Amino acid sequence: MSHNTIAINQRMDKFDGHHEVWLFGYGSLIFKADFPYLRRRPASIGGWTRRFWQGSHDHRGTETAPGRVVTLVPEDGAVCHGMAYLVTPEEFAHLDHREKNGYLRLAIDIVFDDGGSEEGLVYIATHENAAFLGPATEREIAAQIAAARGPSGPNSEYLLELAKALRALGKDDAHVYAIERHLEELSRDQVAAGLTMPPASHLPETVMDTKDQRYLVQQNKIADGDKKPPVFARVMRSKEGKFEGVSFIKNKEKATVMTVAEAQEVIDWAASKKSNAKEYATKVICLEQ
Ligand code: SIN
Repeated sequence: MSHNTIAINQRMDKFDGHHEVWLFGYGSLIFKADFPYLRRRPASIGGWTRRFWQGSHDHRGTETAPGRVVTLVPEDGAVCHGMAYLVTPEEFAHLDHREKNGYLRLAIDIVFDDGGSEEGLVYIATHENAAFLGPATEREIAAQIAAARGPSGPNSEYLLELAKALRALGKDDAHVYAIERHLEELSRDQVAAGLTMPPASHLPETVMDTKDQRYLVQQNKIADGDKKPPVFARVMRSKEGKFEGVSFIKNKEKATVMTVAEAQEVIDWAASKKSNAKEYATKVICLEQ
């Protein structure tokens, strides 16, 4: 079940003519920033609260056993903490694609933890979108998350990454932490019952650790020799981080900074999918060189 919001989001013209726009992230956008940004500042928005009420039928679950991911619901007096990114308008093509399963862009006042505020954008999946699941108890949500797994991996990974990222920001979120606690209990019960779900500590390390993410993939047309500038790989990923292909672009600043393993994925993709692959020489460059 999906509700592709790309076309609606592209019609939003609120920030047309701006060279830079602040984007507020409160879910996977906190722990997985797979886009270039000019600045990043911990921030909050007022009047909204984070809830695991949005269904994920295609990435962290399936049509018959959907997972749950976060959206925001209005609540008087609530403050939602997250991360704000200053991006150029070109990033919205990627962001609209990433958030396409029901999330709509909304203009919002973003208050920075280090002072000041700016009007920016946030992606919200409202109760009107087809993938919206709505409320359930935190125990039920944890049970659904424990059972859900989709093409992008276990739903529990999304929850645990978010909880870890909020802790790293020093923020409290009773809803997220309660679901995490229930998930840990369920996991312990399953292990005690001899079932197979791995304990939380066996789940992958946070993707906030970007130490190894410092490589670019560069291509030169062999026939051009050194006469023409190279192009650089820009990786397209789904909201859940699933590899969806590569475009080669001239602007090095907008290229994807990646790990060695991700660079290998790009090279394999280019060799098999790029129609004129044989005409190009491919190099992996380390940004720290
Ligand atoms: C966000 O992170 O701001 C939106 C929800 C998500 O992508 O998880």
